[in-house]
Amino acid sequence: MIHLRRRRALPALLAAALCATAALTTAPGASAARVATAAPTARTATAAPTARTATAAPTAAASSESYNGLALTPPMGWNDWYQYGCNVTQADVLANAQALVSSGLAKLGYDYVNLDDCWMAPTRTTDGQLQGDPTTFPNGIPWLASQLHAIGLKLGLYESFGDTTCQGRPGSYGHYQQDADTFASWGIDYLKFDYCGVPAGTTSASLESDYEQMSQDLVATGHHIVFSEELPVAAADANPDNANYLPYVALSSTISNMWRVAQDETSDFDTTVFGHLANDLPLAQYAHPGAWNDLDMVMAGNTAYDWTVQQEETQMSIWAEMASPILDSSDLSTMSAATKQVLGNKSVIAVDQDPLGKQGLLVGQQGTVDVVAKPLADGDVAVLLANSGAASQSVSTNVAAVGLPRAAAYSVSDLWAGTTRETAGTISATVPAESAVLLRVAPAGGTAVTRYAPLTAVSVSAQVPPTSQGSEFEIAQPGETVSVPASVQNEGRAPVTRVALSVTGPSGWVSGAGISAPALPTGREASGTWQVTVPPGTAAGTYPLTATAKYRWGLGNTGSSSSQTTIVVDVPPTGSPTLDQLSWLSATNGYGPIGINKNYYGTPLSIHGTVYGHGLWVNSPATIYYYLGGNCSTFTTDLGLDDSDKGTGAVEYEFYADGNLVYDSGVVTNSTPTIHANVNVGGAKVLELYVAEGNGTNSYGNADFGSPTLTCGS
Ligand code: GLA
Repeated sequence: MIHLRRRRALPALLAAALCATAALTTAPGASAARVATAAPTARTATAAPTARTATAAPTAAASSESYNGLALTPPMGWNDWYQYGCNVTQADVLANAQALVSSGLAKLGYDYVNLDDCWMAPTRTTDGQLQGDPTTFPNGIPWLASQLHAIGLKLGLYESFGDTTCQGRPGSYGHYQQDADTFASWGIDYLKFDYCGVPAGTTSASLESDYEQMSQDLVATGHHIVFSEELPVAAADANPDNANYLPYVALSSTISNMWRVAQDETSDFDTTVFGHLANDLPLAQYAHPGAWNDLDMVMAGNTAYDWTVQQEETQMSIWAEMASPILDSSDLSTMSAATKQVLGNKSVIAVDQDPLGKQGLLVGQQGTVDVVAKPLADGDVAVLLANSGAASQSVSTNVAAVGLPRAAAYSVSDLWAGTTRETAGTISATVPAESAVLLRVAPAGGTAVTRYAPLTAVSVSAQVPPTSQGSEFEIAQPGETVSVPASVQNEGRAPVTRVALSVTGPSGWVSGAGISAPALPTGREASGTWQVTVPPGTAAGTYPLTATAKYRWGLGNTGSSSSQTTIVVDVPPTGSPTLDQLSWLSATNGYGPIGINKNYYGTPLSIHGTVYGHGLWVNSPATIYYYLGGNCSTFTTDLGLDDSDKGTGAVEYEFYADGNLVYDSGVVTNSTPTIHANVNVGGAKVLELYVAEGNGTNSYGNADFGSPTLTCGS
């Protein structure tokens, strides 16, 4: 199995730098320019208001009520931003609204249709009034509101508290009551109030009073307008260790219906979904009916992010457990059946929308798995097992730990698999890498044991040694034999009998027969170890292994459980390949996809006028890992900033062989002559290319590898 754990220090920087950018519409140079040149009006770490004093910090939510009586369950619906950015049009909005209705999603609760940035014209009217962009919304916003209301939907709009929106459109600063009145007169049902265009002289205190002011101005209109805002994002680093963060969240929970608790999402699933969960876990106390921690949008069906169904389900599970608003950002008018199933899972929606309005609480951590428990109105508990690690992991908790009272037995429903089992009290599951399991656990009488198969926990792991001591990568080579232990444990109140456990994999890989046990009472396990040989000649790839337990329960019923793990196989490079010819093990990039033989703009790589036919473009901070398998001796490459941004900015290249620093360029700017690096990588299994921000910001960190070449054995 392969561990893709990323440098945890970096995503925060990355997120802070990207927070105010339009993921779909803004090139890295442009976003960097705004961050670099627009301070203090841009949303940057340095422009964040000054630190607050400890005494000014509220310590808890002051209220357990909705400040305006709205959003008693987390708002659900659609937002255009991550799919359309500034290109969104009236036709797009209507198509998505119709899809909400025709798909049945609206009936399940998805009734907000929210326009994000860029719905407004570049200027206000002469009397200072906001107006819809006449090009993209030719019929105007009030007309759009009436169209949506006519089909049972609501319309949300976006604005920013400051002088401009994040895309440079007119902000609300100096116009709060006027804008609130405009929105009310247009029939707007929801306002998202961003943190961009920070006016000069803004302090923490003035910022807080600005958000409070808009909150009150909306109420003063007498119209029902949900208030969604981004005050906590002003703390730049959404992290409880940040002195500003908790005070902002505490205030938000008393003046708004929902507030963003993390920076904008990126297509990097792990840092986005698990990073946002980490930001939100300490904030459970602030959520209550009418006031919700907002994890940002749901990406099911988003074609720019293109997450797998399992990733989309994982995001939904986490959002539901944390009682986050569920605002999907995709083109619903072309929604696939899979997307509809993800968004339309009623059991998962019921967890999110539970009327008790509790956010899930962290009740345990096992390895890379967070165990989160959300009490529900009917006495059930929704249990989230969220695995941020790159390896699947078996987890075991119990009913007492998740807050359930004593009972003869319990039913455990897997809300994505749609299955229900009974347990005597232990709750076990194998959680695949970077994903989550969402369970609804309920106390049940003794009769549960006749209705449901016992919960049986199957676990399996492939014992591939790390590529070097402490390495995050576990890679098997063709010809290698790997030990694979597997086990099955009965957690049910009732026994399971005639148990047969087997491990299967690709044809010819697994040797050894299955094992059997006549009976397993509650809490007992059967286990064995299988030898798995990767046949010589196997191509690089990720290969699944499945352990399956079959058994009998009750009066002759059959049952089974299974669990999967994977073996990652890679083949060392040979000859003198350039890196564009190899597949990396894993990679992260500061902005957009890593460019192979081209830069972000799709034009050839070029450093100080020299054009390279082979090479890579990255935006700092970036990390790329290549598998060398001990077969390569040197790595040569030209290094320098890409000419496409006139070489503005600064980076630093660091290369690691099996975790040891083997090359450090120092800070590279446009005035650094092209570097010709020649690095000894002899014997290394894994080469890491890390491109750091050279000046503490990610302004224009657009860096090239020109003709990056490995010299390897045959
Ligand atoms: C900020 C917000 C995003 C989006 C954009 C629009 O980055 O956090 O959710 O509204 O602005 O410009």
